[in-house]
Amino acid sequence: MGKYIIEGKNKLSGEVFTSGAKNAVLPILASTVLNGGICVLKNVPMLLDTFVAIDILKDLGCKVDYSENTVVINSKDINKTQVKEDLVKKMRSSIIFLGALLSRFKEASISYPGGCNLGKRPIDFHLDAFKNMGINIEEDNNLIKAKTDNIKEAVINLPFKSVGATQNVILASIFVKGRVVIKNCAKEPEIIDMANFLNKLGANIKGAGTDVITITGVDKLKDFIEYEIMPDRIEAGTFLCMAAITDGNVKVKNIPPIYLKALTDVLQKIGYIIEEDKNSIAIKQGNNKNPIDFLETKPYPYFPTDLQPQIMSLLATIKGTSIIKENIFEARDKHIKELNKLGCNILTDKDMFIINGVKSLKGDTVFSKDLRGGACLICAGLFAEGKTIVEGACYINRGYENLDKKLSILGANIKYIKD
Ligand code: UD1
Repeated sequence: MGKYIIEGKNKLSGEVFTSGAKNAVLPILASTVLNGGICVLKNVPMLLDTFVAIDILKDLGCKVDYSENTVVINSKDINKTQVKEDLVKKMRSSIIFLGALLSRFKEASISYPGGCNLGKRPIDFHLDAFKNMGINIEEDNNLIKAKTDNIKEAVINLPFKSVGATQNVILASIFVKGRVVIKNCAKEPEIIDMANFLNKLGANIKGAGTDVITITGVDKLKDFIEYEIMPDRIEAGTFLCMAAITDGNVKVKNIPPIYLKALTDVLQKIGYIIEEDKNSIAIKQGNNKNPIDFLETKPYPYFPTDLQPQIMSLLATIKGTSIIKENIFEARDKHIKELNKLGCNILTDKDMFIINGVKSLKGDTVFSKDLRGGACLICAGLFAEGKTIVEGACYINRGYENLDKKLSILGANIKYIKD
């Protein structure tokens, strides 16, 4: 599982460069099955999840080479349409391969991804949308088998702005005869990045980043593309929270500030000074610090659930009472017990978290149960007195590239121990 060991109380200072976005590269890697040709992806974050997606591509029959942050995929010789079960278990978002394989081969199967540490994570929106597009779905012993003679035109009304369902429907629609319209779709920047990739490849997707996306089917895609993955706004936001909790002075580079407006607004309300330019965000300490009366997570452009644990760590160290409401995932609260072990005072009332700020934290051994929960424990460890051991580093490494190295350059005392 691995662990991170942090000696707290060092102020972070300096500059840190944001890596490519995990939530953009995963759907784009799935998209590379579509063209039956070569895709060269640059600025790929080499994360555990990236390697799972690469293993899925290889298992399907793609040739995949990588060096540093460039991955080259040749999908010409895909020879199966079933995604391997043990790889689906390792990464829930592999469900995105269903839409991509269906688009190219008119059939695909994948085992049910099931729940995860964030709670139940159903895929009913994905499957209902596919059914509306004339795709036959059969479920056989935990295996979802999808098949069609023809993907049909449809208007899909998503019941909720689901990121994965929006991406899966886009992927399944690339070669539709006519048009697929997705209403109430997710607007996350990573959806725009996937649409930009696909449009550069020859697809016709309009409206990505708005509430309605229209995909007009094309006959064929190009057989070569070179594409650079967008930066990771959640990684950048995590660094801002880590800088803030140490009263540091940090410039996070390679990140358009607009992606993190919901977070920087909160940081400014607390009292931090934020300075932005076109492609970077700098943070430093202000005069006073205030708690946040109420903060809730919602789909983009509102406050992201993927930064809820990290902002909680920070608020837990700010005098007064702050309240966070988690609206996206029913069980995104596993970090609270661990934060309290370090001395935080956080109470839970269903999906409401009542955070009573404390002056100091004391290092201890804590357990990361999921990716962002793990990041929030590192954040708290940077503030705590003494040594904090964060077990379960494998979760954190799913989404942060070279976290220990990047934090060390900023002045943190952190070590990664691989078991
Ligand atoms: C993506 C992100 C994840 C982020 C989440 C919300 C990737 C790889 N992952 O996950 O980091 O936390 O968006 O911003 O991009 N739901 C259903 N039925 C469905 C689909 C979703 O009920 O068919 C529910 C989910 O259980 C959840 C909510 O809708 O409560 C949002 O899920 P969704 O936006 O689909 O998240 P993911 O795409 O899985």
